[in-house]
Amino acid sequence: MRLKGKVALITGGAQGLGAGIARRFGHEGAQVFLGDLKEAEGNVFAAQLQAEGVSARFVRLDVASEESWVKSCENVVANAGRLNVLVNNAGINIRQPIEEMTVENLDLMLAVNVRGPFLGIKHALPLMRKAGGGSIINMGSVCCLIGHKFTPEAYTTVKGALMQLTKSVAARYAKDNIRANILCPSTVETPLVQEMLKNPERRSERLGEVPLGRLASIDDVANAALYLASDEAAFINGVAFPVDGGVTAW
Ligand SMILES: NC(=O)c1ccc[n+]([C@@H]2O[C@H](COP(=O)([O-])OP(=O)(O)OC[C@H]3O[C@@H](n4cnc5c(N)ncnc54)[C@H](O)[C@@H]3O)[C@@H](O)[C@H]2O)c1
Repeated sequence: MRLKGKVALITGGAQGLGAGIARRFGHEGAQVFLGDLKEAEGNVFAAQLQAEGVSARFVRLDVASEESWVKSCENVVANAGRLNVLVNNAGINIRQPIEEMTVENLDLMLAVNVRGPFLGIKHALPLMRKAGGGSIINMGSVCCLIGHKFTPEAYTTVKGALMQLTKSVAARYAKDNIRANILCPSTVETPLVQEMLKNPERRSERLGEVPLGRLASIDDVANAALYLASDEAAFINGVAFPVDGGVTAW
């Protein structure tokens, strides 16, 4: 049980990578809170996890709203008494190249992918300090590390910003035994990319860039998140951690 006794809030926990991370954490002994907009899916998934013996609870959270973060953190503290791990996983990708991107869509990308994790960290820090430390795991992408040619500019912009947010939090709050790291996965087959991957050309582009010759699995990413959340990573801080089969190695 690598996360025994830890309380984790995972945003975007109703499906995709967030759900995979929640399941992995839960089976390693963590008490998990699934923060998401999708109430029906989130409640069904929390019930599934409970049936598997995991302590899981859905929390309605809109990461773009500060009020929603305040309420969600209060909910976690009321039910679990503390917060040890925050996974800022919720994210969106509006696939418009820069010349077609509207200001409204750009603002939405920034609100969910940057303001969201920023506010989450803002409200998690006092709780983690009170708990004697914590682990913040942000969900980046290979787009933190390279100007990925298959991905629209707004997505590389927000993921780059998230990486710098991660590093600045890592540098400042290490004194409180709070670590912050960012995962940088290549393409994983989740609802976020399923539509895009139905196009055989897009799928072969994505496969062709991976030296290990396959897409990332949800478990590949969840395993890396588990390591960063656990005390095994006690000295790992401020790292941009590729989970990409070597995409960014060449
Ligand atoms: N799938 C990939 O190929 C891939 C690769 C690298 C990084 N990522 C990143 O991983 C993260 C998760 O992606 P995914 O593939 O699981 O996506 P997904 O679309 O399957 O799931 C995202 C979840 O986030 C939730 N969400 C969206 N906006 C929200 C908001 N405002 N407040 C709360 N929850 C909200 C959605 O309801 C959904 O449950 C994202 O940050 C994404 O950028 C994905």
